[in-house]
Amino acid sequence: MELQDAINERKSVHRFSDKKPDWRDILEVIDTARHAPMAGNDFILKFVTVFDPKVIEKIADACQQPFVGEAQYLIVVCSDTKRATNQFGEKADMFVRQQAGAAIQNMLLSITEKGLATCWVGYFVEEQVKREIKVIPPTVQIEAILPIGYESKAQEHKKVKKKKIDLENVLFFNKWGEQKMRPPKKVLT
Ligand SMILES: Cc1cc2nc3c(=O)[nH]c(=O)nc-3n(C[C@H](O)[C@H](O)[C@H](O)COP(=O)(O)O)c2cc1C
Repeated sequence: MELQDAINERKSVHRFSDKKPDWRDILEVIDTARHAPMAGNDFILKFVTVFDPKVIEKIADACQQPFVGEAQYLIVVCSDTKRATNQFGEKADMFVRQQAGAAIQNMLLSITEKGLATCWVGYFVEEQVKREIKVIPPTVQIEAILPIGYESKAQEHKKVKKKKIDLENVLFFNKWGEQKMRPPKKVLT
């Protein structure tokens, strides 16, 4: 699959079938996160893969989103913020969140490219998730949970891809609010 196709076809899936993805695909998906840009090239992300159905169910409860419990695997994306706070001071929180987003997007595209399905889950009770996956260090924060499976066939027919905003509504030229691309004024000398 071409990159542009993966970008266009990626979508959030909320119904999964019982079919189990190949474990090697899950590892390859996580491997794509390593290639994301990281502030100071310091890789502070960790990934907890969950495949115990009981733990998946508990984490679905922590997300208050039952569809998470239908997934065959979860990837819990974590940052260990210990070094970031020293390195980046007041920018640390922003950098940590942004680089996690970059890594997550790599994984979403890889999941799409493999014909698997997922949804970026950002809503969860963090302490509850930490308890389930036994996170001990207090400096670890949970960035997102990616439930992974195959899209349920019943769902596939129903779901139309969400309409995306038009470029002209989000693009300005040279200054905030300028929607027309004007040639630069000639300066008479
Ligand atoms: C930071 C973030 C948090 C999100 N959290 C959730 C979530 O908790 N549950 C959910 O169903 N979708 C969640 N989503 C997915 C969005 O709802 C979804 O991307 C959006 O509706 C656009 O649909 P699409 O992904 O199919 O293009 C989240 C997305 C982002 C970027």
